[in-house]
Amino acid sequence: MATLPTASNESENGVEPRITVGLDIGTSKVCALIASYDEDSDNLNILGIGITDSEGLNRGVVVNIDKTVKTIKKVIEQAEQQAGITIEEVVVGIAGDHIEAFQSRGIIGISNNNREIIQEDVDRIIKESRNIKLPPERSILHVIPQEFIIDGQDGITAPIGMSGVRMEANVHVVTGLSTAIQNLYKCVERNGIKVKDIVLEPLACSHAVLNEEEKEVGVGLIDIGGGTTDIAIFEANVIRFTSVFGVAGKQVTDDIRKGLGIIASQAERIKREYGHGFVNSIMNDEVFMIPGIGGRKPIEINKSFLCKIIQPRLEEIFEFALAEIRRSGYGGSLGAGVVITGGATLIPGVDEVAAEILGMPVKIGYPSGISYQGLAPEVESPMYSTCVGLALYGVKKAKEAGIDVEDQSDESSRSKEKSKSGKKEKKGWGETIKNFLNDI
Ligand SMILES: Nc1ncnc2c1ncn2[C@@H]1O[C@H](COP(=O)(O)OP(=O)(O)OP(=O)(O)O)[C@@H](O)[C@H]1O
Ligand SMILES: [Mg+2]
Repeated sequence: MATLPTASNESENGVEPRITVGLDIGTSKVCALIASYDEDSDNLNILGIGITDSEGLNRGVVVNIDKTVKTIKKVIEQAEQQAGITIEEVVVGIAGDHIEAFQSRGIIGISNNNREIIQEDVDRIIKESRNIKLPPERSILHVIPQEFIIDGQDGITAPIGMSGVRMEANVHVVTGLSTAIQNLYKCVERNGIKVKDIVLEPLACSHAVLNEEEKEVGVGLIDIGGGTTDIAIFEANVIRFTSVFGVAGKQVTDDIRKGLGIIASQAERIKREYGHGFVNSIMNDEVFMIPGIGGRKPIEINKSFLCKIIQPRLEEIFEFALAEIRRSGYGGSLGAGVVITGGATLIPGVDEVAAEILGMPVKIGYPSGISYQGLAPEVESPMYSTCVGLALYGVKKAKEAGIDVEDQSDESSRSKEKSKSGKKEKKGWGETIKNFLNDI
């Protein structure tokens, strides 16, 4: 077996690689991905992957903390073992139909002597845009600038260095239920791991499956997972719209379970093995057996019969997605069409259903931004788009901040704690939540 590189290995140019960790707590699976990257490259070198079936989530939201803590522990340990690294902090994804997003606006005066806009002014206007009256149970997850308006001149995307006395910003604000956010923090931090960033899943996913050209000409991203379908729309390189709804692959399995009168695990297996999404493109109408329940005889079914159960649910998902795309106001601006990703897009023919319902070109999105070393082939599936995107988001943020990502090698404080006490010291999750909520 090949020896995997660790965080302490020096890369070819003698510079110690940096580490980023994505943690995708999905409704169907929980996945942790440890990757290294160089300062001069955006590609991830995947060092370790942990994956297990999800327990304790419903439609993207934690409903059982103990079970979720355990599944996170399992995947973190798997990934750590593969990579030979102890994880200190992770970038974690958030979705669920509690997510809401809207447009807002912030205004500030430019007060420095030469009236030139500097980074602090941009930070100040984003802070100002966060001053929104929200219902007490909701918190802000992201404030993403769309455009800046300087002294009435609109359409500005890079305001630093420009002159002006008054700057306005149109921003996209993403909010979630505070309790859902807090529960995610709890589940991660009870494993002694810090949450470095909490990121809206479609936003993270876009880093893995969309390229700059698509984002420029206009593209819709639809991530169909197990419990939620997540949408993000980009146009002129800016995220314009995000949305999450709670119908996805699990409903397809439920329909098969009910339609064929079998148990859920059998329905899941049949879906993966024989499922097809678009009846017109079935080339070989294979016949297969479904097990009889309670001593009944097995029954013969053909692929096209199964497809007639799957297709209407996929059509419904794309009709919901289309309604959301129209609601965004960008339905006519998606020159690059739509990219679909997530585990549910592994059903053959799903892209054809999507193209028919959406009336736009459709492409299946596979995670990119991975260098072909390490464990790259393991994550080459639409199922891992969000997890890869979370790790890439970590890289982007670290580079933007211009600071070194904390060294997560074996000499990290978490591993020191472990060796000091023989077990992991519980970190105060309450403190991080407080910081997160204070930050708003
Ligand atoms: N080979 C396959 N063929 C068909 N469907 C598949 C296949 N593999 C996985 N799926 C489906 O993909 C869905 C899970 O997708 P994914 O792993 O992207 O979801 P998740 O991230 O755990 O959930 P969510 O993002 O909704 O919280 C499940 O409904 C599963 O049945
Ligand atoms: Mg997902």
